[in-house]
Amino acid sequence: MSKSSWGTTIAGLDIGTTKTCAVVATSTPEGLDIIGVGEAPSNGLRKGVITDLEETVRSIEAATEKAERMSGVHISHVYVGVTGEHVQSTNNRGVVAISSEDREVARNDVRRVVEASKLIEVGADRQIIHALARQFTVDGHDGVSDPVGMSGSRLEVDTHIITAGNTFITNVLKCVHRAGLEPAGIVFEPLASSAATLLAEERNVGVALLDIGGGTTDVAVFTGGGAIHTSTIPVGGNILTNDIALGLKTTFAEAESIKRTYGSAIADTHGDQEFPVKTLDGKTTRRVNRAQLRAIVAPRVAEIFKLAKAQISDRLPRDVVLAEIVLTGGGAHLRGIDQAAAEFFGLPSRVGVPTAIGGLTDAVRKPEFATAVGLVLFGPKGDGATWHGRNRSPFGKIANWFGDLWN
Ligand SMILES: Nc1ncnc2c1ncn2[C@@H]1O[C@H](COP(=O)(O)OP(=O)(O)OP(=O)(O)O)[C@@H](O)[C@H]1O
Ligand SMILES: [Mg+2]
Repeated sequence: MSKSSWGTTIAGLDIGTTKTCAVVATSTPEGLDIIGVGEAPSNGLRKGVITDLEETVRSIEAATEKAERMSGVHISHVYVGVTGEHVQSTNNRGVVAISSEDREVARNDVRRVVEASKLIEVGADRQIIHALARQFTVDGHDGVSDPVGMSGSRLEVDTHIITAGNTFITNVLKCVHRAGLEPAGIVFEPLASSAATLLAEERNVGVALLDIGGGTTDVAVFTGGGAIHTSTIPVGGNILTNDIALGLKTTFAEAESIKRTYGSAIADTHGDQEFPVKTLDGKTTRRVNRAQLRAIVAPRVAEIFKLAKAQISDRLPRDVVLAEIVLTGGGAHLRGIDQAAAEFFGLPSRVGVPTAIGGLTDAVRKPEFATAVGLVLFGPKGDGATWHGRNRSPFGKIANWFGDLWN
């Protein structure tokens, strides 16, 4: 990182189904330091997709205002997280000839080959939001992580391509603009969560991240250092609350509180411990034990895992083996969920909290902040200038500092 670039501020905006979170970071010689975080309730989305513009704008304004107050910095540009079933991914390959006289791969050749990999049919109503290089091949030698400077005449790349529906993106950007902000770039949310929580070793060996939010569960799978699968499931932690409300015949608010206090994804020794549940009219209470609550929660958690597993195994090449599951998002707070994941997937599992950053880390050391923190880490790295707004970004020049984030 060049000295003149220290002190640049970068902001991320995670517009979730339950909360909007703005994070402001500043660049330091060591990387990035968080200097402000703002959170506000979000009621304008369903399953990760905006359904109420006004509500969403209000939520963005409230979250950014808090982050501005904490950091003392005016936020003008934000990297914005997107998710929802309209986001889809595929893997592709690009090939170019190295035409320079010295036959040495230059940065521009890398750009050209990634561009070449983006020549796929996406449909008029969709756009490519990421083209992530996983590995390069120079004159038939594969497994190259950075080909710049290598000699050769043919450069190939394997990329993970992510596309999104135009109207959904337009609506997100509309809300960002109406809240007085300029989008610096858009990022598919599980990539952000991964940037904040996964270690390079995990991405190399093979890891699946599940970000269990309120309305969605976002999935990202890495192997050999790069993303090989990303997707989103339109079910998150809120469905557990719904099930509890229906099962125990109580309000959504009471069910949410019960889930957080007594909920568990696994059988434990507290099964016969009883707790009071308010009836729907709030006038009386009934007693329920934790085993009864677990009988509602655990099957739903298993169902979320089953959907994730189906997507992952459908889309991964047979030879890809995973070594770990990492859980992020507010849903990862559920007691025993890491153990339930370990049993379900037959893999070591852990809850991921943002680590790849300095500064006010105490404020964000929770799984539900993985996406927002990851936006400031992953946003500037982006995907090689895919998005039309990127060229106008004042942060474009810092993209290369983080060039090694995924390599
Ligand atoms: N202690 C807890 N135990 C169980 N679940 C919890 C706990 N704390 C939060 N949650 C759940 O986490 C979910 C919210 O997570 P998060 O803040 O990551 O969602 P979001 O980003 O707003 O939504 P999305 O990513 O789906 O758009 C809610 O379903 C909430 O009930
Ligand atoms: Mg989220």
